[in-house]
Amino acid sequence: MIPRQLWCVRLIVFLAAISGLLFAQNSSKKKSGVEQKDFGTRDGRPVNLYTLTNSHGVEVRAMNYGGIILSLRVPDRKGQLADIVLGHEKLEGYIPNPPYFGAIVGRYANRIANGTFTLDGKTYTLPKNDGPNTLHGGMTRTFDKVVWDGEPLKGKNGVAFTYLSKDGEEGFPGNLKTTVTYTLTDKNELIIDYEATTDKATPINVSQHSYFNLKGEGNGDILDHEIMINADKFTPVDKNLIPTGELRPVKGTPFDFTTSTKIGSRIDDNYEQLVLGHGYDHNFVLNRKGSGLSLAARVYEPTTGRVLEVTTTQPAVQFYTGNFLDGSVTGKEGHVYKRRFGFCLETQHFPDSPNHPDFPSAILKPGEKFHQTTVFKFSTK
Ligand code: GLA
Repeated sequence: MIPRQLWCVRLIVFLAAISGLLFAQNSSKKKSGVEQKDFGTRDGRPVNLYTLTNSHGVEVRAMNYGGIILSLRVPDRKGQLADIVLGHEKLEGYIPNPPYFGAIVGRYANRIANGTFTLDGKTYTLPKNDGPNTLHGGMTRTFDKVVWDGEPLKGKNGVAFTYLSKDGEEGFPGNLKTTVTYTLTDKNELIIDYEATTDKATPINVSQHSYFNLKGEGNGDILDHEIMINADKFTPVDKNLIPTGELRPVKGTPFDFTTSTKIGSRIDDNYEQLVLGHGYDHNFVLNRKGSGLSLAARVYEPTTGRVLEVTTTQPAVQFYTGNFLDGSVTGKEGHVYKRRFGFCLETQHFPDSPNHPDFPSAILKPGEKFHQTTVFKFSTK
């Protein structure tokens, strides 16, 4: 090779090395903010994936199909990031999504007994998709199964999903317009805001159905996690998991999580409510102070040190220990999700409220604005 050509080759190698270095720096120091990319189509509509990243490298990936959170990466006590929610890598994995991984559930999260309720003298009939009950809003056009409009927030690290559920959809009255916003802060908080308006009185109960495993998704069961639930009472259920109407004190029962206790320490006790729920699948009545955000639960995983703290404006939380996961779903990285591989903390109104006049009302009327907030805060100890 003549010297001139040699210099050219050296120059090209040098420039390539420099750009490689710059690229590596860029990708390791990912800027915080929202990224949007095409993620496929559903019902002929585009589905987008939104990635929210904060300055600590915490990352939330969510899509406008079902408002589903696909992944949530948070550090352990050594700073090691892991994805702590069960789910799939691609849109196709969520079709169908029987365990409601990561989804927004509604119009009415949880159960409505016998798929019916009466409001202002009129009886409404809903599709039954859980034995005799309606679970998580019905069968076909429920919040977890529709394409929402997605819009990155302006000047904030977040994304808003909006969906108009038409009058009569899944049997519910009123055109119900709902917006769910996910915002990621630099304090490692994922803030979930729910807002809705309607043109006819209608029940509403919206929640987020992420399954957490603070060791990392697919990494065994959640029985060694320690949980504190800020509730002195829970709502016992019948054999169809419908509240009986009783508000039972947790004291002296396996439902007492007022001090931090291992999830698995009493889960298989021969206590009627645990037998009926096949574990915990119950609504805890939160000890609330005022109307703002109030502590619902705190979960600690001892091996990684990860802590999840849940605060909410809602009156209750459904603590579900993934009892119905049975290994039939293979999720991210080929992980098989077995029984109790994840837990959910679904902040909400009480189940079946439309049929329980004594429960806090879950009816939204025209002219009113529904607004609830739940914050998932991640830390370590
Ligand atoms: C909720 C219910 C559970 C179960 C899951 C989905 O948490 O309370 O009983 O239906 O959703 O599998």
